[in-house]
Order: sequence, then C-alpha cells, then structure tokens
Amino acid sequence: MKNLLIVFITTSFLISSVSSVTADETTVNTLMKSYQSQGAKSGNAQRGELFWNKTFSGKAPFNERSCKSCHTANLKNKGEHVRTGKNLKPLAPSINSLSLTKVKKVNKWFKRNCKWTTGKECSAQEKADILAFIKQQ
Ligand code: HEC
Repeated sequence: MKNLLIVFITTSFLISSVSSVTADETTVNTLMKSYQSQGAKSGNAQRGELFWNKTFSGKAPFNERSCKSCHTANLKNKGEHVRTGKNLKPLAPSINSLSLTKVKKVNKWFKRNCKWTTGKECSAQEKADILAFIKQQ
C-alpha cells in the first residue's frame, strides 16, 4: 500500500512538472494558431528580427521609434521604457520565464506597442514572425 502511494505521488509530480515546462509552448502555439486563422503563414524568426530592428518615424519628441526603443536590441537585457524610464524585464524567455506565458498579455502589448512604434497595429504575419524571433531568445 505504501509503495502504491509513492508511485502515485511520483507520477503526479512528474505529470505536473511536465505540464509546467510546456506551458510556454502552449501559449506560443495558441497565438500562432490564431494568427494563422487570420491568414498568416508560419512565423519566420529572421523576418521577425528584421522587424525588431526596423526604425519607424513618429511624432516628436520620439521621431525615431522601434521595438528597441524600450526593449533594447538584445532581448536578454533589461529594457527601459523610453517615456516613463521604468525598468522592463527582459523579453527573452531563456532569461525571463514569465515572458510569453500569457496569451492575453502578449495580445495586449502587441496591440499597444505596434501602434506606438509603427503607427498602426501589426499584421497577423508580422506578429507570427516577431513571436518566432522572441521565442528563440
Ligand atoms: C514605449 C515602450 C515600448 C516599446 C517601443 C515597445 N514595447 Fe513591448 N512592452 C513594453 C512594456 C511596458 C511591456 C510590459 C512589460 C511587463 O509588464 O513586464 C511590454 C511588453 C511586451 C510584450 C509582452 C511580453 C510578455 O510578457 O509576454 C511583447 C511581446 C512586446 N512587448 C513586444 C514588443 C514589440 C514587438 C515591439 C515593437 C513593435 C515593442 N514591444 C515595443 C513597452 C514597449
């Protein structure tokens, strides 16, 4: 009986640890599927990187804007909000285990940040590409 209990506890522990490891993948997959349902092809990390480094023009005093403005070019670094000076946690999932773990949060910030940076919302394809790029960091 005791052995059975140990087997049970070990198994449930294994199952719960596996599901927490894949939580991040699940979020990214859910997002990718929704972009594909809006017509995007699979995400291309190289194109995502190009977008990340691209500069857009905006209203003064932030005439030049990019994703790097707040997150820096190296996603493993901490960022600094260009308007508020607030510290931002690194976006790289390898450094920040909370990054890309919540569908709602990613959607919220994609919407807000794309608008601020480029003047309009990102297309489903652009989001798929950027996500593929961030995921690798
Ligand atoms: C004006 C500053 C600013 C700019 C420019 C900016 N971001 Fe962000 N971004 C933020 C802030 C603030 C957060 C929220 C950070 C937090 O709560 O941990 C965030 C969060 C995110 C997240 C959510 C990550 C997560 O926790 O899952 C993504 C994805 C993201 N940004 C992508 C981008 C992309 C792509 C661009 C360029 C189009 C960009 N950001 C430009 C300020 C910015």
